[in-house]
Amino acid sequence: MYRRVVDKNWDFKTANTKEFTHCYHAYPAMMIPQVARTLIERFAPSGKCDLIFDPYMGSGTTLVEASLKGINSIGTDINPLACLISKAKTTRFDIDTIEKCLSEIQLFPFVFEKEKVISTDFSRISNYTFWYSEDSLIKLSYISQIINTFDEDVQLFFQVALSEVVREVSFTRNGEFKRFRMAEEKIKQFNPDVFALFESKARRNLKGLKQYLNDSPKTKIQICDFNTVNNIPNEILPDDSVDMIVTSPPYGDSHTTVAYGQFSRWANEWFNFPNAKNLDRILMGGSRKSEQEIETQSIKKELGLIEKEDYKRYLEVVSFLYDYSDSMKNIAPKIRPGGRICYVVGNRTVKGIQIPLDYFTAEIFEKYGFDHEQTIVREIPNKRMPSKTSPTNKAGAKVATMSNEYIVIMSKKHNQGKKSK
Ligand SMILES: C[S@@+](CC[C@H](N)C(=O)[O-])C[C@H]1O[C@@H](n2cnc3c(N)ncnc32)[C@H](O)[C@@H]1O
Repeated sequence: MYRRVVDKNWDFKTANTKEFTHCYHAYPAMMIPQVARTLIERFAPSGKCDLIFDPYMGSGTTLVEASLKGINSIGTDINPLACLISKAKTTRFDIDTIEKCLSEIQLFPFVFEKEKVISTDFSRISNYTFWYSEDSLIKLSYISQIINTFDEDVQLFFQVALSEVVREVSFTRNGEFKRFRMAEEKIKQFNPDVFALFESKARRNLKGLKQYLNDSPKTKIQICDFNTVNNIPNEILPDDSVDMIVTSPPYGDSHTTVAYGQFSRWANEWFNFPNAKNLDRILMGGSRKSEQEIETQSIKKELGLIEKEDYKRYLEVVSFLYDYSDSMKNIAPKIRPGGRICYVVGNRTVKGIQIPLDYFTAEIFEKYGFDHEQTIVREIPNKRMPSKTSPTNKAGAKVATMSNEYIVIMSKKHNQGKKSK
């Protein structure tokens, strides 16, 4: 139907995925930098490539890679943590100021006293005594307090380091995106060194920053938080303004696929960001539509089979597909004629039936004036995502998800610009 090409060259099995500012912060289902990089190198549209857009930017991999190539970029995500990470990764912080702050940070273990901590109100964090020891909370609060005394221009650099620590010192189980508490026995032995962790993250990030500043020319990078399902503001992205999209959208709702909201809740609550507690509900496919049919030829058969098997799951899938296609509908006019889109998608399995999201993506963009060029199939050895996910909220319940991803490459027809509408 839509031509797929299996290509081993896209595996990047031994690639270093932590170069530059890519080392800053873990994030679920990150795109590996080499994929974004190679897409830009091979598929930047001819004529010009001045602006790359990522409509689901996550931790900002595409934006960093665009700037390394000297190309301006705009990214959006409705997860505030994603915006924090992406902003931090693409900001040209002043190295001297950061080093000065670090010399203060390394003294924390010696100068810290509980009595110095001003804010001990943690009520913004749900069930905080269940998730944290008192010692960790107080030390995290101390770090926040000192970051606020730093030069405003570098505060974000330290906040992104703190954000990782906030999650790591909680009692959440390692290796899960969902919030599962460690076993009591483990908690008794769990005594994280909050200050050491924070310092080591900041130092690691500083190394990445130096490399990034060295290798990236100055470009214009805009981090946004608009919801592509609803609307893409014209004042930010006028029609026909984008040369290229390099992105990896979610591949299902966050409840049953990748739990972005749960993973991000630690930081989102710590920084008191909006929607911290209900993010999964507002992300794509998060709110279920009742009884709906979706117009599609490309995945009609699969949807029919799921509908027969389990109507509730069918509605979940359809709700996601509705949001996803609305988002593509809003994105399509923003691309200039001749511009290219590269969508890295996953084909999840529901009730044992694989949903070819790559076909669906191609079908919808075709409807809005794009030609399908090819779909590259790559193995995902490096994708930071469990190869098995828990489809229920039961700890340990796993089903195999996918080990391939599909890179859908399409270009906008030349007669599809604003003038021809
Ligand atoms: C697969 S992740 C992107 C990962 C990213 N490529 C990276 O390297 O980190 C998908 C992202 O889509 C975001 N998202 C979900 N629904 C969205 C919506 N309606 N508008 C914008 N972003 C959305 C999620 O918050 C998540 O960060």
